[in-house]
Amino acid sequence: MTAEAAGIGARPLVPREIVSELDRHIVGQAAAKRAVAIALRNRWRRRQVAPELREEIAPKNIIMAGPTGVGKTEIARRLAKLAQAPFLKVEASKFTEVGYVGRDVESIVRDLVEIAVHMVRAEEMEKVADRARAAAEERLLDLLLPPVPPRAGEADAGSRETRERLRLLLREGKLADRTVEVEVRESAVPVIDLIGMTGGAPEGMEGNLQEMLSGLFPKKTRRKRMRVPEALPFLEKEEAGRLVDMERVKRLAVERTEESGIVFLDEIDKIAGRESLSGPDVSRQGVQRDLLPIVEGSSVNTKHGVVRTDFILFIAAGAFHVSKPSDLIPELQGRFPIRVELTSLGKEEFVRILTEPHGALTRQYEAMLAAEGVTLSFDPGAVERIAEMACEVNERTENIGARRLHTVMERLLDELLFTAPDIGGQVVVITRPYVEERLAGIVRDADLSRYIL
Ligand SMILES: Nc1ncnc2c1ncn2[C@@H]1O[C@H](COP(=O)(O)OP(=O)(O)OP(=O)(O)O)[C@@H](O)[C@H]1O
Ligand SMILES: [Mg+2]
Repeated sequence: MTAEAAGIGARPLVPREIVSELDRHIVGQAAAKRAVAIALRNRWRRRQVAPELREEIAPKNIIMAGPTGVGKTEIARRLAKLAQAPFLKVEASKFTEVGYVGRDVESIVRDLVEIAVHMVRAEEMEKVADRARAAAEERLLDLLLPPVPPRAGEADAGSRETRERLRLLLREGKLADRTVEVEVRESAVPVIDLIGMTGGAPEGMEGNLQEMLSGLFPKKTRRKRMRVPEALPFLEKEEAGRLVDMERVKRLAVERTEESGIVFLDEIDKIAGRESLSGPDVSRQGVQRDLLPIVEGSSVNTKHGVVRTDFILFIAAGAFHVSKPSDLIPELQGRFPIRVELTSLGKEEFVRILTEPHGALTRQYEAMLAAEGVTLSFDPGAVERIAEMACEVNERTENIGARRLHTVMERLLDELLFTAPDIGGQVVVITRPYVEERLAGIVRDADLSRYIL
């Protein structure tokens, strides 16, 4: 794969670095982080191998087993970000729902390419951003000061000078109140009719049809009056769009999907089961069979081209309370050789989750209240008590993992979040007694916590 398809400036991280990046956002779960780090590095390794052998190397897909709210999705999401890889999350159980039976699993691949196209397009637009900005400036100057054709024998030095003076004013932001008329292009395709027509069409058709027809119908242009600060980014975007070669974007997007796409198959345990010959297990097995070709490798037609799925990395996840990975059909098990277990989280982890990650909840609330001029901070004792209470509620009602922290924190800070605009400028320290006062009653009452926390 070309460096371009791999993502701009993507320096291949070694497993140790991948884990330490993940550590910045996710507490604990070392085994899972290790497994995904190896899987990611393996892709780079595979690319270094000579082509004939490379074709033989299939990605080692992963099953993450663990209770709800312990970081499965979060790990996969962060990994995709690190890898600058197209990432799609789908619920495997969706394919068994009424109305979804027979929903083609190929839509997974189509959606993934679509994500890759957006990604690559954004990168390509970024690359031409300077040129687009310059071109937009020229167009805006043309609109502000329509160029006059130079009369015979007369130098247009004067008008050029005016233009440069105007350019300076524009750059200094002094033309913010001026307005210009910009031509806005609109597609004249009758959208409403299309929706009706393709009601029963297979997924992906609407897009194709829409694209086809928009080529047939003339583009309608309309003049729209805009203020300069609006017009500049508008023209910039238009120019960037013109400078980006969409054929190239599509080609790179397909390549990137094939070589570095990551599909997160959530709730895989809900489709496990193969013993019985009737009832829901039959449809579950059906979904597994449907998934098989994509996971094993096949070619899928998308509107951006044919995509081979052989090297897409699949990360499956599930609680596996009732079923086990061994309840999956053998072919699927074989395609998911890496198994990792995530552990349920306790008080110590909660304390760390509340304070350590870059986007930890306590920091989020501190930042949000700073917007109101309130300086919020949490005593270590308070954080500890919050973690303790979250654990307690998880034990007594239902264990929803770290998600419990969200409900507990929101309840704890409810009063402050309401009154913050009126008490601007104050310093508020959340102490252990404050936590006690606000939450102890609710935590003690299991029924009450079921509703509130
Ligand atoms: N180990 C962790 N470290 C930091 N934050 C975590 C951790 N585990 C969970 N969280 C936070 O809890 C929330 C839910 O986590 P996540 O979506 O990863 O759960 P999950 O394991 O995928 O659960 P489910 O099985 O229900 O999908 C997220 O906001 C996430 O940031
Ligand atoms: Mg999840």
